[in-house]
Amino acid sequence: MSATPETPALDLSWLDLFDEPAAVEPSDRGLTLEAIAANGLAAREDAPRDMTPRLRGASARANAHRQGLTYQTKADVWADQCLALYEEAVQRQWSSARDIPWGELEPLPDETERAVCQLATMLAEVEFIAGDVPGQWLPSISGDEFEVGLFLMSQIMDEARHTDVFRKRALANGGGLLAQGAGLGLRNLLDAKDFTEMSVLMHVQAEGFVQSMFRMGELIGPTAADKRIFRMAAQDESRHLAFGVMHLKHVLAETPERREEIHHYLDRAEERSGGGSGDVTFPPVFESLAILLGGGRDHFDEGVAKFLLLRRRQVREYLHRLDVAGLGDRRERLGPALTPFAA
Ligand SMILES: [Fe+2]
Ligand SMILES: [Fe+2]
Repeated sequence: MSATPETPALDLSWLDLFDEPAAVEPSDRGLTLEAIAANGLAAREDAPRDMTPRLRGASARANAHRQGLTYQTKADVWADQCLALYEEAVQRQWSSARDIPWGELEPLPDETERAVCQLATMLAEVEFIAGDVPGQWLPSISGDEFEVGLFLMSQIMDEARHTDVFRKRALANGGGLLAQGAGLGLRNLLDAKDFTEMSVLMHVQAEGFVQSMFRMGELIGPTAADKRIFRMAAQDESRHLAFGVMHLKHVLAETPERREEIHHYLDRAEERSGGGSGDVTFPPVFESLAILLGGGRDHFDEGVAKFLLLRRRQVREYLHRLDVAGLGDRRERLGPALTPFAA
């Protein structure tokens, strides 16, 4: 028979009796992250920090374990809009099972169906990596900037849905999964060794190029379901891009000495993703896009002309986003593979 455990003596030091009462009021959008960041609980550039899992505002425990290296300044990871972007992500989740009119898919000419499937196969792979990349960085985000972590987690959920919706598209209408994408630009993202390097390469450059393509979804997608997939995915991508642009803006404002370092990351990435080895210029992807944009193989020339328009749009929008972030001088040092499309 086991002994009855004794009731431990009460400690109650955790009660702390509310020296600084924290009562947060919901805004008209609800009890948002911005609402709970009021009352002196907002992230600060100069906050003293530790490397334990403690989230900002909680009192520290003396024997708390460290959990690895986390960034030591707010500017290393922060974007002012990450609170609002997270709230928007939560409110605008959609379902790849229910929110796409799959029932309205209809038989397409073989080459058109295959072209959609080739693009969807490549995009499923790209989106899968787009989840891995922010996932790698979660352990580096300090609890002092937990909102950045929340935003990245919402991005990972978005990318899961994108992976899933493009793979479903390849399998939904008789074309099937086709060739793997080129992938070299993606390796570049996984190899980034710094948060800002990752963010400028992924959020601003790679997702920017993808977003410019999604925004042409009305022209690319042959059916209502395809157009809707591109529209829904573009809505999510705009948050990922906004985070990247606003993070870069914050970094340049707080640590202007990092400017050349950031240009250096872009120099390397433009060399790799802008030339013949990039995902968009990879032959199966280029050809399928040209078939879709032209409206069939018989209109391939027209498709190529529209593809060049897409490249121009990608590069112009990329430069515009960098300009918004405060890196407008990128225009003068753009890599040679992208320069022809910048005008
Ligand atoms: Fe995505
Ligand atoms: Fe994304």
